[in-house]
Amino acid sequence: MTQTNKIALVSGANRGIGEAVATGLAREGVHVLMGCRDLAKGEAAAAPLKAEGLQVTPVQLDVTDAASVAALANQIADTHGRLDILVNNAGVGLDFVPDLSPVEKVEQTLAINVVGGLRLTEAMVPLLAVSAHPRIVNVSSELASFGLRHDPDWEHHDKILPTYAASKAAVNALTVSQAAALADKGIKVNAICPGYTATAATNFMPDRTPEQAAVIVLRMALLDDEGPTGGFFNDQGELPW
Ligand SMILES: NC(=O)c1ccc[n+]([C@@H]2O[C@H](COP(=O)([O-])OP(=O)(O)OC[C@H]3O[C@@H](n4cnc5c(N)ncnc54)[C@H](OP(=O)(O)O)[C@@H]3O)[C@@H](O)[C@H]2O)c1
Repeated sequence: MTQTNKIALVSGANRGIGEAVATGLAREGVHVLMGCRDLAKGEAAAAPLKAEGLQVTPVQLDVTDAASVAALANQIADTHGRLDILVNNAGVGLDFVPDLSPVEKVEQTLAINVVGGLRLTEAMVPLLAVSAHPRIVNVSSELASFGLRHDPDWEHHDKILPTYAASKAAVNALTVSQAAALADKGIKVNAICPGYTATAATNFMPDRTPEQAAVIVLRMALLDDEGPTGGFFNDQGELPW
């Protein structure tokens, strides 16, 4: 590998939006580390990409497991010595899971969407800090936008997912704080909404594809040095918090 290859880590890359982001980044010439809880699923997702000649490497990653995250940070340090792009994509929505109390839903959702993403970011910051153009993309949701939720004409006004929305609001708050805290290391941190997209998480509703959802992630992952930090975007532009 040459020094010009960017190295990216995408969490939850074995399916859905994460898989599309990994594919899109690899097609831009990035060497993508595909973070997967189950390495066998990662190998299966990576196989067609490797057959296409893309540089992808499945890596074991459970963001709720401190040992898994630490082992991956050590692996990346030993193999690459740096990380250029971190996409915090892994996430769940548990609002419609029966037999879970509201407290259990919040505890379990925050453990993955908020604490898990933060754990991964903290572990990767030393590796991002030695990159020439380090970027973090936090995959959030418009459902976390207080501004949009207060608009009765907003197209998703009828979608009530209290736990999920709270978790992504926390992701947004962390994004602002991380952007400020990491600015002196040159690390740009932005939150994005991929849009309501057909994946396992949405029972494959509606028609929007993971490839369409990945567009804004790729844009923020490959941001130039004049690009924004500490913002919240979808593919149409900036979103209200
Ligand atoms: N689809 C939408 O409409 C939509 C809209 C806005 C935002 N988003 C966000 O986009 C992101 C991707 O969602 P998606 O729709 O692609 O969902 P998905 O198909 O359910 O994929 C979620 C991914 O996260 C992984 N994951 C779950 N828990 C994990 C953990 N503890 N550690 C590491 N990975 C874990 C899953 O791995 P396993 O396969 O092992 O479970 C899977 O790879 C999420 O953050 C979601 O909140 C989605």
